[in-house]
Amino acid sequence: MDLDAVRSQALQCMDCSLSARRRNVVFGEGNPRAPLVLVGEGPGEQEDATGRPFVGRAGQLLDRALADNGLSREHVYICNTVKCRACDWIEDKPVNRAPTEQEARACRRWLVPQLAAISPKVILCVGAPSARNLIKKDFKITADRGKYFPCEYAKTAIATLHPAYILRQQSATHDGGYSLLAADIARAWEAAQRLLKASVGSSEPEPAAVQSSLFD
Ligand code: URA
Repeated sequence: MDLDAVRSQALQCMDCSLSARRRNVVFGEGNPRAPLVLVGEGPGEQEDATGRPFVGRAGQLLDRALADNGLSREHVYICNTVKCRACDWIEDKPVNRAPTEQEARACRRWLVPQLAAISPKVILCVGAPSARNLIKKDFKITADRGKYFPCEYAKTAIATLHPAYILRQQSATHDGGYSLLAADIARAWEAAQRLLKASVGSSEPEPAAVQSSLFD
C-alpha cells in the first residue's frame, strides 16, 4: 500500500475506543522519502487539535534538537506509535495517559504499513513505549538508548529519551537529558546517511558483513 492509501484508511479507523472522542487522527508528516523516521508515543492535546505530530511543548523541544543538528521536519518523517490521543475522561474532561499495550498493538495496523511505505534506513524511537513496540518488549531506555538494534522495519533502530520526559527533568542546573536527545538524533542521522551512501548504486541489499561494519 502506498503512504496516501494507508493515511486515508487510517483517518477512518474505529478499531479501538480512542476513536470515540478524538478530534483528529494524527497520522504523521515530513519527508516520506526520508532515510530517518522518528516514532513517538502518541498525540497529546495540541496534536489532537491540529492533526499534526509533536506540535506541543515536547514537539518544540524536538524541533530544537533537530535544528541543533542542522535538521528540520523536511529532512525526516515524524509519526507516532498510536495515532489517536490516549486520555481518560474524568467528569467529562480529558486527562492524558500513556496508550495501553492493546492500543499500541491495534495501531500497528497503521504503523507497520506506514513504515513499509516509507522504508527508512533508520528508525529513531522517541521514548520507551515506541522502543518496546518496535525494538524489543523489555527495552530499558536508560540502559539501551543511543545503541543500534536490529529492527524489522528499517536497517537499524535507535531509541532516545522522550522530550516530554526531558521537560519534566529540566532544572536551572540540569538539561534533563536534552544533550542525550540531540546526540542520539546526530547518531541516527549519521547512520541513515551512511546506509544511504552504501545503498546508492547497489540494487542488491547490503551483505550482512557490510551492514554490521557500518555500526562498529
Ligand atoms: N508526544 C508524542 O509522543 N507524540 C506527539 O505527537 C506529541 C507528544
